[in-house]
Amino acid sequence: MTRPDAPEEGGAGEAARELRDGLAKIGAEFRASLAEASDEPSLRERNARWVGPGGALTRLMKLMPKVPSGERRDLGKQINALKTEVNEAFEHALVALERAAREAELAATPLDVTLPGRDVRAGRLHPITRVRYELLDIFGALGFDVADGPEIDLHENCFDKLGFPADHPATDMQDTFYITREELGASATTLLRTHTSTIQIREMLRREPPLAIVAPGAVYRRDDDATHSPMFFQIEGFLVDEDVSFSELKGVLTLFARRLFDAEVSLRFRPSYFPFVEPGGEVDVSCVFCRAWERDAARTAACGVCKGTGWIEILGCGMIHPTVFRNVGYDAERYTGFAFGMGLDRIAMLKYGVPNIRLLYENDVRFLSGF
Ligand code: DAH
Repeated sequence: MTRPDAPEEGGAGEAARELRDGLAKIGAEFRASLAEASDEPSLRERNARWVGPGGALTRLMKLMPKVPSGERRDLGKQINALKTEVNEAFEHALVALERAAREAELAATPLDVTLPGRDVRAGRLHPITRVRYELLDIFGALGFDVADGPEIDLHENCFDKLGFPADHPATDMQDTFYITREELGASATTLLRTHTSTIQIREMLRREPPLAIVAPGAVYRRDDDATHSPMFFQIEGFLVDEDVSFSELKGVLTLFARRLFDAEVSLRFRPSYFPFVEPGGEVDVSCVFCRAWERDAARTAACGVCKGTGWIEILGCGMIHPTVFRNVGYDAERYTGFAFGMGLDRIAMLKYGVPNIRLLYENDVRFLSGF
């Protein structure tokens, strides 16, 4: 109530009343408000409504200068007391919230630290890669270098320089994907190589004898069945020097087969034809499945892999044809050499007993993790 004759006194009375009313209101509300907070952020937010910089109690304190001096002391005490109460209620609620959270955690289903961890699946080498490393080790120990060549090569390196006459049926049999650039002419015909024998030409063109080289790599053909895939792997080997004879070829291949399969295997050389060797042959190894060298006739007769013959074909080989030497500019009178080529897939299938070549390319970990 304002008194017209004493406006300042009246203003001061007003401030004191507002302050008192405000204190009563805050006193009635703050406990319930703080108690309703369900988590710490909301508790802090509610607390700030009373005692924060813009809070209700803080606003009331700003009225103090306007309060008549006689009432200031008493109201000041009340404000401080209320502030202390709010702070205490806040601390109390905070402790209660923390305790409730801890109790909820203890009551919840406990974390089972005894569960075994998930296994980390370690990668491993693909069977073909393992066989490749093994062969490179064996031939490396015999002094062979390792060479590489492109999977797309000239028709010339794949057939012509190896002594395949134009239109030789073998080029049909091995027919593959041709990439022909008409404008560059027939000599620029390229194709996905059908065998690693291309490396013989490439290496002999850039090196002089003596040389001993092995070259693994992917090759491509029109084949597709249980034991043939349109893309597969071969390894080529060749050695050129003066006075190289067939007996060195036999020696190297026998040593290789005994290191790879079993110290007791023997080799059988059968004559065969490849345009780039003369004489040429195919090599069989005594069957590693029925252990044919142990001469258990009944076991061999029942063997599905060698089909009762006791022999498994593993490679082609021969003495390098003089035509090849002439085509790469070597003196065919002075040098002789041998060459051989085999399928890495086939070796992997024999060594690990893989029945179908598809398994090597499907990348099914159930199969691959067995090696
Ligand atoms: N290149 C032949 C093929 O893919 C395999 C071969 C046979 C390689 C006789 C040779 C060899 O080096 O002398 O069927």
